[in-house]
Amino acid sequence: MNTPSSVRGARKATGQREVFSSRKLFILSAIGSAVGLGNIWRFPYVAYENGGGAFLIPYLVAILCAGIPLLFLDYSVGHRFRGSAPLAYRRLNRKAEVLGWWQVLICFIIAIYYAAIIGWAAMYAWFSLSKAWGDDAEGFFMGEFLNVADNVGVSFDIVSRVFFPILAVWAVTIIIMVAGVNKGIARANVVFMPLLIVMFVLLVVQSVFLPGAMDGLNAFFTPNWEALMNPAVWAAAFGHIFFSLSVAFGIMVTYSSYLRRKTDLTGSGYVVAFANSGFEILAGIGVFAALGFMAHNTGAAVGDVVSGGIGLAFIAFPTIVSQAPLGALLGVLFFGSLVFAGLTSLISILEVIVAAFQDKLGWNRKAATLIVTVPIGLISLALFSTTTSLYLLDTLDAFVNQFGILACALVTVIVVGAGLGALPKLAKHLNRHSSIKLGTGWMVLVGGVGPAALGYMLLNELQSKIGEQYSGYPAWFNGIFGWGMAGALIVFAVLLSLIPWSRGSKLNDPEFEQHKAKVLDEELPDTTVKRY
Ligand code: ALA
Repeated sequence: MNTPSSVRGARKATGQREVFSSRKLFILSAIGSAVGLGNIWRFPYVAYENGGGAFLIPYLVAILCAGIPLLFLDYSVGHRFRGSAPLAYRRLNRKAEVLGWWQVLICFIIAIYYAAIIGWAAMYAWFSLSKAWGDDAEGFFMGEFLNVADNVGVSFDIVSRVFFPILAVWAVTIIIMVAGVNKGIARANVVFMPLLIVMFVLLVVQSVFLPGAMDGLNAFFTPNWEALMNPAVWAAAFGHIFFSLSVAFGIMVTYSSYLRRKTDLTGSGYVVAFANSGFEILAGIGVFAALGFMAHNTGAAVGDVVSGGIGLAFIAFPTIVSQAPLGALLGVLFFGSLVFAGLTSLISILEVIVAAFQDKLGWNRKAATLIVTVPIGLISLALFSTTTSLYLLDTLDAFVNQFGILACALVTVIVVGAGLGALPKLAKHLNRHSSIKLGTGWMVLVGGVGPAALGYMLLNELQSKIGEQYSGYPAWFNGIFGWGMAGALIVFAVLLSLIPWSRGSKLNDPEFEQHKAKVLDEELPDTTVKRY
């Protein structure tokens, strides 16, 4: 059936909820969100550390048993209730709004440091041309570039070399976001994603032809089957997949709320999930081929040069760039890829926050974007262009990202599954127009396996974080920016959910009433219960 003209017209009117003009654009934007810094610098390291080739088994199990089922949960909530995370959860159940705000706040913390890393990567793409770090990549990064303070703490000593690139990242991101879902987010993905793919494929090709590349690939793919007996390896696979797929922190709820009513949700989800994994495995090949070259050049074993995260990107890779033939090109391709992969993810992370305030306070797109993103950008600049940025980034990432997302995902599956018993209704919604139908299996995975796996991982994380001072930082620092911040997000989420929805908010949006009536109509043959 064609989209009713009233809805088509409504889409254009100011203040109405935008929809992606095609499913392809949604899929591209969702892949853009999923493929991010995590794929390039996190996956290769996690895979290597947890069994190499054998890790592909827990990884695949984690995708199929947790990643994709939770991706579908996000889609079903966002698409059925057509709202940002707080609004969609509020429409699911009045008390569930707090889950949405928790996800919004996690996005806030991730956004402020994610933008900083993109800014650093942009500078490093430029530095690659002259190999500005000379023969001491680590000294350059910690000293000349970030000017890292000797003492762990918080200072407001701005480092101008870092300030301006981060400012530029915020400027580009805000311009994209002000333009809206189609003209901004989708268009940016149409430009950045092909660029990313071309650059990354070139990077991988260049890397695999470097001397020693095969040793790197052997190290990466050689399976250590014994690792499969270690529960921590399985926990690593499950822990990686949520951040990688952009699941359980509001992004996919928000993006799917911009989808037309009749959409193949599950088919789209599989495309997104496997595209993300494909990219991740490609990243493993590119990164380990390059590390193999580094080991070959220094006469070390691959295991001795392996690193992940900041160490891989800003210390190991610059060293490789200095030593490799056509190193400048390799550097531009690697850091350029980080920038494009990062930008398309940062946009999606910020969209969770913009959409939430837009819905709750009834602001128009432009106002909501500016009122929300400019202060976030300023906070990001104030905290992450300083001499203490690295300490803060490390602690926030460990507690809010790795720990917070797991905790939020666990509470969400328990509330939606066991608490509200909403899974059958959501499964029915997913099946309405989808090519691949879901049944009891999905409900068991989300409502049973999900909470068990997440609960186990969370306990593991809690134990390791309580047992030692994270990164050897002082207790007060981890207390405030680690535990304190993770706890503060929950307190603020509760407070935000207590703010009443204004008259102009999207809670009573007539467009949603129309959508709801249509969804319920479609459900009538199967159910006589008219509750939403
Ligand atoms: N999914 C995004 C990443 O992997 C956030 O970085």
